[in-house]
Amino acid sequence: MLTRARRIWDVIDHRVTDEALALDRRRLLAGIGLGAAMAALPLRARAQEGGELIAPELYPGERNPAFTLDRPLTEEKIATSYNNFYEFGGSKDIVDAAQALTIRPWALTIDGMVEEPMEIDVEAVVRRIPIEERLYRHRCVEAWSMDVPWSGFPLKALLDLARPLGSAQYVRFETFLNPDEAPAQAQSWYPWPYVEGLTVAEAANDLAFIATGMYGKPLLKQNGAPIRLVTPWKYGFKSIKSIRRITLTDERPVSYWEELGPSEYGFWANVNPEVPHPRWSQAFERPLGDFGSVPTRLFNGYAEQVAGLYSGMDGEQLYR
Ligand code: MTE
Repeated sequence: MLTRARRIWDVIDHRVTDEALALDRRRLLAGIGLGAAMAALPLRARAQEGGELIAPELYPGERNPAFTLDRPLTEEKIATSYNNFYEFGGSKDIVDAAQALTIRPWALTIDGMVEEPMEIDVEAVVRRIPIEERLYRHRCVEAWSMDVPWSGFPLKALLDLARPLGSAQYVRFETFLNPDEAPAQAQSWYPWPYVEGLTVAEAANDLAFIATGMYGKPLLKQNGAPIRLVTPWKYGFKSIKSIRRITLTDERPVSYWEELGPSEYGFWANVNPEVPHPRWSQAFERPLGDFGSVPTRLFNGYAEQVAGLYSGMDGEQLYR
């Protein structure tokens, strides 16, 4: 399986290990390439307005002043057109392919070690849990970053709907599985569906966020509509998109990338500039839309909020 799979490092190696090439790509995006993407954007946005946006009147929600940034937001056009969503292909340009995803209605299952297993429509969820806006950093393992105004609610508020049992230790997240709409999922040598996991303690941390919108509007399909996870202190691959199922469990979930490349991608994946990826440095990052690079921070700048989650866990591979 692994020998046939197009692994994350096949996709990203040329971007990360060859700085010059990466910067050239960035210039291309900022110039010609992105210009073209921008020109196409109104059409793409219209494609999703066809009755599929969920409760747009609820956005952006009140800005939560506890979550702000010390650097400028990434331009919306860039954050919504330069994406990782491997269900729709291995390039960054998956916007058109992602429009095939049906997002309304969208049944979300919360099950496993909970008092009240449920299947609930995402529209009912966003109408039930108050929406707020938070500004977060996002650091991809590929060494690019973005700064985004997400709308949504704390993950804990969502889990509480199903009342997790005290014996649950982990939260397992699963993306949709539908090769008819996401053709890459027909490639059976990949471990579809995309899976991610957190400990219950991580999930209860106030930073762990469920995004249903960004830039003051419901999420676009390419960014993981209608509902995705955002864990800003971890590498971006933990922020699983288009979630169908959330399961409380006492077994540690094996994530999609962990299954594909266990020596390079682990369960914890906390951002740490001093722990390089096996094949490239994590010391710096390139903000999308920017030609330069800036130093990466421990826990992506959120050490104060999350470092305590990991005290006494020195035997674990916390940083990949
Ligand atoms: N979720 C699913 N289901 N499929 C994916 O391919 N890519 C991850 C994460 N969530 C991914 C996913 C990675 S590697 C990153 S960096 C972020 O989504 C990218 O989110 P963005 O496209 O909104 O920037």
